[in-house]
Amino acid sequence: GDVAVVVPAAGAGVRLGPGAPKALRLLEGEPLLVHAIRRVAAAPSVRMIVVAAPPADVDAVRTLLAGIAPVTVVAGGAERQESVAAALAVVPEDVGIVLVHDAARCLAPVSLVERVAAAVRDGAAAVIPVLPVVDTIKEVAPDGAVLGTVDRSVLRAVQTPQGFRASILRAAHAAAADSHTDDAGAVEKLGRPVTCVPGSDLALKITRPIDLALATHLLTLPDP
Ligand code: C5P
Repeated sequence: GDVAVVVPAAGAGVRLGPGAPKALRLLEGEPLLVHAIRRVAAAPSVRMIVVAAPPADVDAVRTLLAGIAPVTVVAGGAERQESVAAALAVVPEDVGIVLVHDAARCLAPVSLVERVAAAVRDGAAAVIPVLPVVDTIKEVAPDGAVLGTVDRSVLRAVQTPQGFRASILRAAHAAAADSHTDDAGAVEKLGRPVTCVPGSDLALKITRPIDLALATHLLTLPDP
């Protein structure tokens, strides 16, 4: 493999309700992070995996993943982008392609990891997996008054893993002053092109309790 995968897994998971840090919540008896790492590690392109864990759980995560795949575990930060930066800092300079993959998208299939990696290998600077937006999207004022309807056909919902030429991701993170919710956003601010590949329904982000119910069902389906 020629790819390093950086896995931010340090979030609290407030929207899931009270409990352990999100990446350590259980899905069919196993932490979300274990589900995620198992799939990432099975991708032929992947040479190394770096996990950014909740700072209080670094040793526990190391122990948890020891039996799953060879991973490097570092302490994450208060914001997602700090967690990504901490993990990126330990990726060796000779690794040319870096994927960033949220632990919360724990059912993202091997085929998606390979699709994103292949697009970077084929020359793209930055690659994001996307899906069409299914809901009608409206812009709404703070008082609830509708300001307008956004043209849905030009919108895409963005997933992870996102893939990057390593040098571009490092430059984007170094330049990122204000916060961004995904890594491609930092690349866009550099003025570098970001391209799309088809995403996967299985790469849903476990955020709310209903997502856990859906993921439990998805686990019963064969991996594509
Ligand atoms: O909060 P959200 O669902 O956007 O988090 C996306 C991913 O970023 C999750 O896997 C979460 O664990 C991770 N994260 C992190 N460090 C933070 C906040 C979120 O690694 N401080």
